[in-house]
Amino acid sequence: MSGQVNSKDTGLRGVYVANTGISMIDETAGKLFYRGYLVNTLTKYSTYEETAYLIMHGKLPLRSELDKFSSNLKSERKIPSEVLKFMMQIPKESPPMDVLQSTISILAHYDPDIYDQSKEAHYRQSIRIIAKIPTVIAAWDRIRKNMSVIEPDTSLSHTDNFLYMLFGERAPPKIEKCFDIAMIAHAEHSFNASTFAARIVASTNAHVYAAIVAAIGALSGDLHGGACYQVMRNLKEIGSPEKVEQWVINQLANNRKISGMGHAVYKTVDPRVKILDECIRVLTENIEDYKYYKMIKLIEKYTKREFRKLKGADIYPNVDLYSAVLYNLMGIDCDLYPALFALSRSVGWCTHIIEQKYPDPPLKPVLYRPLADYKGLYYGPNGGRYIPIDKRKH
Ligand SMILES: CC(C)(COP(=O)(O)OP(=O)(O)OC[C@H]1O[C@@H](n2cnc3c(N)ncnc32)[C@H](O)[C@@H]1OP(=O)(O)O)[C@@H](O)C(=O)NCCC(=O)NCCS
Repeated sequence: MSGQVNSKDTGLRGVYVANTGISMIDETAGKLFYRGYLVNTLTKYSTYEETAYLIMHGKLPLRSELDKFSSNLKSERKIPSEVLKFMMQIPKESPPMDVLQSTISILAHYDPDIYDQSKEAHYRQSIRIIAKIPTVIAAWDRIRKNMSVIEPDTSLSHTDNFLYMLFGERAPPKIEKCFDIAMIAHAEHSFNASTFAARIVASTNAHVYAAIVAAIGALSGDLHGGACYQVMRNLKEIGSPEKVEQWVINQLANNRKISGMGHAVYKTVDPRVKILDECIRVLTENIEDYKYYKMIKLIEKYTKREFRKLKGADIYPNVDLYSAVLYNLMGIDCDLYPALFALSRSVGWCTHIIEQKYPDPPLKPVLYRPLADYKGLYYGPNGGRYIPIDKRKH
């Protein structure tokens, strides 16, 4: 049946669909909290593993709790040799997000808890997925470059080990630190499209892998996690700072989106921008001479100016404008950027999947099932009569 869809409400903007205790966005103040801690506090004092514990368990860990959590993750890093063999059959030009999505799907077949519906089994599946995503991404980057795959090193932290497996050697300490910070900043972000996709799948009682595969698919699009890759493609296409102004004018005049600008929730600057901006500064000696940094600053400046002229409204940069430049500085290939987002966000996704299936009382788990306003005919052409295929005339 048909109903009433307010055009402002399409895309579920401004609609509350569930309660959550995981993270909170203050859209006007431009603040992001994980379990009541400002993301800026966590990037300053915490580590990715400690933050992951906080997101999953709702409190900062004791030393012994963190040690156990880290060692659980370390023990699950390896991927089965059969899965590596599968990856080696994939065409080398396949996008990393597609490879990650297929490989996570394959990994489900090797999880002993796959059909166990208990909360504990969901937690174990989550740990395996979070631990293995970095291994899959690093392995794929090396497989496609005809380089040998590097085994995980259990003496290294989650994020340091990823860089080690990617590069085949330890990254410089500054890069390791900035990468860990970037991963903290991306770890959780409430009901964004990929998290919502994961929760929808989880709401059907499907397993964690099925929900994560959906989330990876949702993240890959360039309006969401694919935006950081698109930012870098744009920077390469534009070529130099002098060309930014005209490029921005052309994009907006042709109704094309500027990747890395705008946000569905924040009404001000995304708080993660400042965190990544500081990392870029730590990694760059002469920031004013750094071409891509200059270019994103100009994209920000001219998009704001032109957007105000055209729409009479303000627009602000989002995390992807800055993560693209930061990852470029780290020497990471730009088509891997969305996969790095998935590496970090897997913690948020898994926690939401568990919250969706095992919400705190007094809530009960619900199957997501919205309505659509049907605009077709009540009875179709020919009054809904079925005409055999050979008798149809168009
Ligand atoms: C993220 C995004 C989808 C959020 O958009 P939103 O909340 O749905 O905002 P809307 O799409 O309602 O945008 C409102 C208006 O601003 C425009 N707009 C929003 N972001 C824009 C951008 N980056 N470039 C150009 N125009 C933009 C829209 O076209 C729309 O114009 P209209 O009212 O004339 O149709 C949007 O800002 C976007 O596409 N950004 C670029 C992709 C990106 O960086 N994604 C990563 C987000 S973290």
